[in-house]
Amino acid sequence: MDQKMNEKNGRNIIEVTNLTKIYNGKVKAVDNVSFAVKEGEFFGFLGPNGAGKTTTINMLANLVKKTAGSAKIDGFEVARQSDEVYKRIGFAMQEVGLDETATAREMMQLHGRLYHMPPSEIKAQMHKLLKLMELERVADKYVSAYSGGMKRRFDLALSLLHKPKILFLDEPTTGLDPHARRMIWNHLKQLNKEGMTIFLTTHFMDEAEELCRRIAIMDKGKIVAEGSASSLAKKYRVKSLEEVFLKVTGHSFQEEELNANSTDPYARIRGV
Ligand SMILES: Nc1ncnc2c1ncn2[C@@H]1O[C@H](COP(=O)(O)OP(=O)(O)O)[C@@H](O)[C@H]1O
Ligand SMILES: [Mg+2]
Repeated sequence: MDQKMNEKNGRNIIEVTNLTKIYNGKVKAVDNVSFAVKEGEFFGFLGPNGAGKTTTINMLANLVKKTAGSAKIDGFEVARQSDEVYKRIGFAMQEVGLDETATAREMMQLHGRLYHMPPSEIKAQMHKLLKLMELERVADKYVSAYSGGMKRRFDLALSLLHKPKILFLDEPTTGLDPHARRMIWNHLKQLNKEGMTIFLTTHFMDEAEELCRRIAIMDKGKIVAEGSASSLAKKYRVKSLEEVFLKVTGHSFQEEELNANSTDPYARIRGV
């Protein structure tokens, strides 16, 4: 209910139209995808490995070049107006790209300067976020010494430093223990309650159910269903998201997909 109140005037803050990504001229990772996210919404992309979630979120954050279609953030076309886009977004991506030869505080200082934040604001945000993510104790230690959970939490703290309006998170709790997972969930709920638009990807049904008011289920580069967890279950007359997925795709969520990029190691021997 809180979330609904946040969605100011129903304005679309993310608008994606016919977005497509083809890698190396052959792998169609994202296939003509369209969706919109309203300001203040908590929106999730749910799908198995290889569905195209990372590729989509990376195109939204301008980390991967789109092949076709359009992605707009707060009215700005991502690929053409990236400066305007960067000011508005924060992201913590699947491959945590931290410079491990610096301390948390040093990295936050640098990040703040890159975003032209005044030193007093950097200091205040740093204090707040290190506390929020329970990292004060290790803030002056090299990030290389952090545990996996600490790195994820720090990555999230860093993504929030410049107070972005929109937060992009790619599988934010993968590899975390249940306690750390719950902690991140609580922080994300709080941030969303305060008005931040959050877009996340996950391959965990429970995560999508717990956090996202609206979910797009992705499979093989396409959005195959969209709505709240409960409305989807109702629509397809089933009890769980898992069953929704089975209904809309005809295969189970857990089924491992073969890597579309792998080449046949025996091709030469087999003469194919
Ligand atoms: N850099 C890349 N080059 C070629 N193919 C890629 C690349 N990144 C992803 N893919 C392929 O694109 C498809 C979607 O991948 P991805 O977006 O990572 O899915 P997800 O995040 O849902 O697991 C997969 O078939 C994957 O192998
Ligand atoms: Mg991914």
